[in-house]
Amino acid sequence: MITIESLEFKYEDGTKALKDINMDLSKGNTIGVIGANGSGKSTLLLNIIGILKPSKGRIKYKDLPLEYSKKFLREYRKKVNIVFQDPDKQLFYSNVYDDLAFSLRNLNYNEEQIAIKIEKALKIVDGYELMDRPTHFLSYGQKKRIAIAGVLVMDLDVILFDEPTSGLDPYMTKEIKNIIKKLSMEKKIVISSHDMDLIYEICDYVYVLGKGEILGEGSPREIFLEKDLLEKAYLEKPWLVKVHQELGLPLCKDENQLFKLYR
Ligand SMILES: Nc1ncnc2c1ncn2[C@@H]1O[C@H](COP(=O)(O)OP(=O)(O)OP(=O)(O)O)[C@@H](O)[C@H]1O
Ligand SMILES: [Mg+2]
Repeated sequence: MITIESLEFKYEDGTKALKDINMDLSKGNTIGVIGANGSGKSTLLLNIIGILKPSKGRIKYKDLPLEYSKKFLREYRKKVNIVFQDPDKQLFYSNVYDDLAFSLRNLNYNEEQIAIKIEKALKIVDGYELMDRPTHFLSYGQKKRIAIAGVLVMDLDVILFDEPTSGLDPYMTKEIKNIIKKLSMEKKIVISSHDMDLIYEICDYVYVLGKGEILGEGSPREIFLEKDLLEKAYLEKPWLVKVHQELGLPLCKDENQLFKLYR
């Protein structure tokens, strides 16, 4: 659905953040993009969404190259959109309801339809009680949930998540994991993260970035068993992989599978 061909991206100050990136997002349903700080994950997602324009190469959606006119991007973002790493970049209105209604009003939904979509999205992110709150008084985790609700109200094909669980407590991290799992049944998901446990558990295809280049790609099992690749990318193994390698236990996909085996 989305392919990236020989993409290079240079920031204005000359920093070459991405080099010769080739990706085919049809290789999985939930695609992970992993890499250390500064490896280029956010830059890559911003290129995919068309906020940044590649210096070289191109991105295709449904076999057509992205165009950078306002009109093209407006239509494109009705189908492909992003939850930013920093929720403050996503929330524009002074109250939660208006913030969530903004994109829907732009799409000419009536107020009744808007209310239904907002209630549904807020319930999914466990944020129903935040509906009438001023956005600037929300905690970081609450802002993050509202930012996620902001993409859930739209009828997207592809959702990009940049560090969806950073700054969240363990309960909310689990919730977000479950939300993404559920969403991935209907939509294509791309997640950038340095939470290897999250990526291992919910992704079915993974790209490893290091210093702006793709160092490896494959299924989570292939990627996370490659010691040299992880070291080169400055990444940790997921704990389930450690348990498998250090204790010789079977390689399980999640903790439930492991606990079931030994109960
Ligand atoms: N606006 C900018 N101008 C110049 N260089 C930038 C800019 N934004 C990012 N960079 C540089 O581009 C490279 C990639 O940064 P990016 O934010 O994409 O990494 P990341 O993998 O998302 O890191 P993190 O895990 O810390 O979020 C880094 O070297 C960074 O310093
Ligand atoms: Mg980032």
